[in-house]
Amino acid sequence: MKVKVCVGSNCTLLGSMNILDQIEDLEDIIREDAYIYSDEELDVEAIKCLGYCKEIKKNVAPVVVVDEEPIFNATSQTVMEKIVNKLRK
Ligand code: FES
Repeated sequence: MKVKVCVGSNCTLLGSMNILDQIEDLEDIIREDAYIYSDEELDVEAIKCLGYCKEIKKNVAPVVVVDEEPIFNATSQTVMEKIVNKLRK
């Protein structure tokens, strides 16, 4: 699964670094409880501005993209839920 976390200035100001930290913690949890989750790799990438804040020009930050699906106004909780639901067996 490919997860892109925007670390451009708009998204960083609204907490994307916190989301990135949480995803790293989640990777550890998944490793510990591997039997609950599929074997799919979690590929996490931090990207400087995914472009949505300029393209949409509304308050979209922070933005996280999970498997090409953007989550606008992302919170740790919404991102974790999305990842866990997709990875659970
Ligand atoms: S700074 Fe995150 S989409 Fe532009």
